Amino acid sequence: MADKTIYLQVDEARHELPLLSGSLGPDVIDIRRLYAETGLFTYDPGFTSTASCRSSITYVDGDNGILLYRGYPIEQLAEKCDFLEVCYLLLQGELPKGSEMRNFVTSISQHVMVHEQLTRFYSGFRRDAHPMAILVGVVGALSAFYHEVIDINSKEDRYLSAIRLIAKMPTLVAMCYKYSIGMPFIYPKRKLGYAENFLRMMMADPYDDYIANPVLVRALDRILILHADHEQNASTSTVRLAGSSGANPYACVAAGIACLWGAAHGGANEAVLNMLEEIGDVSRIGEYVNRAKDKNDPFRLMGFGHRVYKNYDPRAKLMRQTCHEVLSALNLHDDRLFKLAMELERIALEDDYFVQRKLYPNVDFYSGIVLRALGIPTEMFTAIFALARSIGWIAQWDEMISDPELRIGRPRQLYQGVITRDVTNISAR
Ligand code: CMC
Repeated sequence: MADKTIYLQVDEARHELPLLSGSLGPDVIDIRRLYAETGLFTYDPGFTSTASCRSSITYVDGDNGILLYRGYPIEQLAEKCDFLEVCYLLLQGELPKGSEMRNFVTSISQHVMVHEQLTRFYSGFRRDAHPMAILVGVVGALSAFYHEVIDINSKEDRYLSAIRLIAKMPTLVAMCYKYSIGMPFIYPKRKLGYAENFLRMMMADPYDDYIANPVLVRALDRILILHADHEQNASTSTVRLAGSSGANPYACVAAGIACLWGAAHGGANEAVLNMLEEIGDVSRIGEYVNRAKDKNDPFRLMGFGHRVYKNYDPRAKLMRQTCHEVLSALNLHDDRLFKLAMELERIALEDDYFVQRKLYPNVDFYSGIVLRALGIPTEMFTAIFALARSIGWIAQWDEMISDPELRIGRPRQLYQGVITRDVTNISAR
């Protein structure tokens, strides 16, 4: 229902456009009938001014540094909940009561194994393949195992698809790592918590006991919470667009993983560490900061800036705190790269160029540092982001499929190509 109307004057005609109000955030102009009534499209590359859907899952207020999952501030969720509680919240809309949580954890633990045949997909990849390349493949391959059995119009089937995805992602991601280093896959253990299980599958070997450090388990859990959803970001929009045609949910999530891989999105945490390695020494920070400011140099400071947060990223604040906890627990404050990162943060926060453009360190600046401290190799960072974001993708997919307004996503364009011409035979060209 339209709350208000705004008017668009096109030549002599005055058109009414409904103005819709959300529960939070700016009003949106409903332009669904714009083309039918005016023959005009809108032009918005990068979708900076376009709401592509209605959603009740996540709210981001970039100007004020606010992030809410189902109305709960991220700071409180990071403090009081673990990742699986947050998964339940994103999926079901409410925080679980004790018995609901126990049932949820049991359901997840029943689906942590992957089909043994799926393990053979890995050997088709080169050992040095990027883990994101493998992950796109194996998550997409899940659709081959669960396709005919999924009726996407059934609420129960969609829920089961989500449970399977949340349960299997840590197993699949850890297998990417084990495969890359030529180590045997470590099977999941049902009795372990989500983050601990994942750390064990990553770090354990078959010949020794593995005991996880609780500070590191908590740090990983927090990384998962902070990356769980972020409304209509590029990868989530990709999942929605792929899903809008009615495609298999795992194929849609594989599309999301592909989108996340890029350095402007989830690839940033890996890019941060690569950048720190390249800078190499505190004495060279100035040179790199100058390069980042130089319009003729494509170099950007990785881990700084955000499309939506033009104030401090609230996730970065929490991740920064976790970062220091982990560095203290592991006695790593003197590590060369960590010192470099802290100095870079200090300089960039004081530099006019960054201050004026509100380019603050984002969540991936700190999560990259924490993951490195956890002993996770750089090329696995984005795969861990994908693991965390899977819940957001599947919750958004579920919301989209159950939306009565769902239509296949089909943007229009401003065509600037050649106007109609005739084809000549190849001999005459
Ligand atoms: N280093 C140097 N200059 C920058 C940076 C940076 N990291 N980010 C933005 N700028 C400058 C940009 O050159 C522009 O300057 P000017 O106004 O003089 O032309 C101004 O700041 C505005 O930048 P923009 O490109 O219009 O901003 P955007 O919203 O299109 O891009 C971004 C956002 C995240 C892609 C960009 O800030 C960036 O490339 N950052 C580094 C990569 C990164 O850390 N990405 C992770 C984002 S957080 C994780 C996630 O949500 O996926």
